[in-house]
Amino acid sequence: MLKASFGALIILAVVGIGFAGFRGDKMGHTPVEWFNDMAHQPKYEPQHRSDFFNDSRAARLPVAGTVPVGFNLKGRYFQTEGNNLVNGMGGFSNQPDYYNTGRMGDVYGDGIPDALAARGVELLVRGQQRYDIYCGICHGAAGQGNGVVKSFGLATVRPLVDDLLRAQPDGQIYHPIAHGKNTMGAYGPVIAVEDRWAIVAYVRALQTAASAKLADLPEAEQKKLQEQK
Ligand code: HEC
Repeated sequence: MLKASFGALIILAVVGIGFAGFRGDKMGHTPVEWFNDMAHQPKYEPQHRSDFFNDSRAARLPVAGTVPVGFNLKGRYFQTEGNNLVNGMGGFSNQPDYYNTGRMGDVYGDGIPDALAARGVELLVRGQQRYDIYCGICHGAAGQGNGVVKSFGLATVRPLVDDLLRAQPDGQIYHPIAHGKNTMGAYGPVIAVEDRWAIVAYVRALQTAASAKLADLPEAEQKKLQEQK
C-alpha cells in the first residue's frame, strides 16, 4: 500500500512539473495554456499598433488644449481661483537643487524657498487644502497621527506634531512627501513641487498650533475666544 501511494505521488509530481514547470521555455509550436494567468488581455500596451485608427497607433495624443495637472503653461492658459500652480515655479520639475529635493548636497536643508514663503498666508491656505486632501486621511486633520486609515490597520502612521519631527529641518519633511518613507508611499507623482512646500509650511503651522497657548494669539483673537466662553 505504502509503495503504491509513494509511486502515485511520484507520478503526480512528474505530471505536475510537466504541466507547469516549463512555462516560459521556448517552444516550436503554439503552447497549450492550462492557466494563462491573465497573460492575454484585451488592452493596448504602450507603443502597440491598432487597426482601429487610421494612423495605426494605439496610443492617442491628448485632446488639443489639455493642461496636465501641475504643469506651468503660463501665457497660454490661466487657471484662476484655488489653483495657484500656474503663477508659480515648476509644477513637477525635477532638478537636483534645494527647491526640488529638500536637500543641500548630502544633508537636508531648512527653510521654505523664498519665492513661496513670500506668499505668506496664501501659501498656508493652499497647504491646508492640499494637506486635507492628501495627508489627513492617515496623519489626521490636526497631524496627531489619528487619521481614518489608521483605524483600518495602518498601524505605523505617526503623528506629525511630536518633538522628533519638530526638530527636523523643512527639507526632511519635504522629502517623504516627494519620495515616501518605509510604509508611506511617495506623493511626488501627484503633488506638484510648490504644493509640497505649501504642505510643509502647513505641517509647521500644525506643530505650532499643537502646543500653542492662549497668550500666543494676537490680542484681537484672544478677545474673540474669551467672548465665546
Ligand atoms: C496612506 C497613509 C499616509 C498618507 C496618506 C501620508 N502618510 Fe506620511 N506617513 C505614513 C506612515 C505609515 C508613516 C511612517 C513611516 C515609517 O517610518 O514607517 C509616515 C511618515 C511621515 C513622516 C515622517 C517621516 C520621518 O522622517 O520619519 C512625515 C513627515 C509624513 N509622513 C508626512 C506626510 C505628508 C505631508 C503627507 C501628505 C502629503 C503624508 N505624510 C501622507 C502614512 C501616510
